[in-house]
Amino acid sequence: MRDDHERSLAWLEERIAAGESFRGLAEAAVAHLRSHYDTYNWVGIYMLDGEGLRLWAWDGPAATEHVHIPLDRGVCGYAAATGQTINVPDVQADERYLQCFLGTRAELVVPITAGERVYGEVDIDSDRPAAFGDGDEAFLAAFCERLGALAERETLPAREPR
Ligand code: SME
Repeated sequence: MRDDHERSLAWLEERIAAGESFRGLAEAAVAHLRSHYDTYNWVGIYMLDGEGLRLWAWDGPAATEHVHIPLDRGVCGYAAATGQTINVPDVQADERYLQCFLGTRAELVVPITAGERVYGEVDIDSDRPAAFGDGDEAFLAAFCERLGALAERETLPAREPR
């Protein structure tokens, strides 16, 4: 794994070990990811809430209107419903895509899971086409695994993937 990815995981592990709550960590994590990675132009954490997703934390140049996303809508809904990472290299070519920002070209959504249960997801928008590679996917999978363990400890709402 790349050095910067390793450093971000170490940063996250330290905060978890220090006993930070999921809520506080979500705020810190979106800011960390956006400020450390050039192509991560907007970063959000959506968490399960009833039958959909609720935006818990975000960092970026503008707020999104999509603060609540049903599980049958958007790339975000699809990732949470299936528990799969969804890497969209060209958002205009993906019919699931719900537009938030005119500048977005690519999107990566990585579920926050523990075992079979899905708690939420990290959603990253990039202004660069095909911005996300295997390295980003592996890094964010490791990042979300750690968030998932914390979500499980806090017994946050979860669902089984379909
Ligand atoms: N594009 C997402 C909606 C969330 S915004 O990107 C912040 C989707 O298709 O689900």
